[in-house]
Amino acid sequence: MLDGLHQEHINMARLLDVLREKLFAIRSEKPVRYHLLRDVLSYLSEASDRQHHPKEDVIYDYYLKYRCQDPDMPTQLLEEHQRLIIAGAELRELVEMILMDAVIPLDQMAAKLEQFIVLQQRHLDYEEKEVFPLLRQSLTEDDWRHIEQSWHNSGAEDPLFGHQVAERYRDLFERLRHNHD
Ligand SMILES: [Fe+2]
Ligand SMILES: [Fe+2]
Repeated sequence: MLDGLHQEHINMARLLDVLREKLFAIRSEKPVRYHLLRDVLSYLSEASDRQHHPKEDVIYDYYLKYRCQDPDMPTQLLEEHQRLIIAGAELRELVEMILMDAVIPLDQMAAKLEQFIVLQQRHLDYEEKEVFPLLRQSLTEDDWRHIEQSWHNSGAEDPLFGHQVAERYRDLFERLRHNHD
């Protein structure tokens, strides 16, 4: 289960790289394909807010209830997942407005995007460097069995990194495959 989540972190890190390029392009006033930016954000909300984080929440709930020694960890994890959802939604709204030709100051767009990237990256790092090692250390096979029983897999395939790429993520998929804009 952790290996799967770790792989999802690697995928998310690749998408963050795409966002960083977009940020750089906006700041250097180069043309930006905003629909790709929108696709990255909608993928993150679809896959990460609705699949990845709920899966983590099941593990964290168990861990925090039975094994955790750090009093700050529960609030931090919960808050970060919440904040990512809100920051992602705000940014998506801004990008949608740009796609509809609304006039949005570019520095406002860049600042929001940068905030979002920093938030995502910090959360990934926190989980990879602090939370996951603790889970690996302290959860037994028995614990994992309990956790897996309480996770009801929706069976939904990953629409971007799964076996079949959904039509709506074709462009983004090609972009990741060729690694240039
Ligand atoms: Fe998370
Ligand atoms: Fe995560």
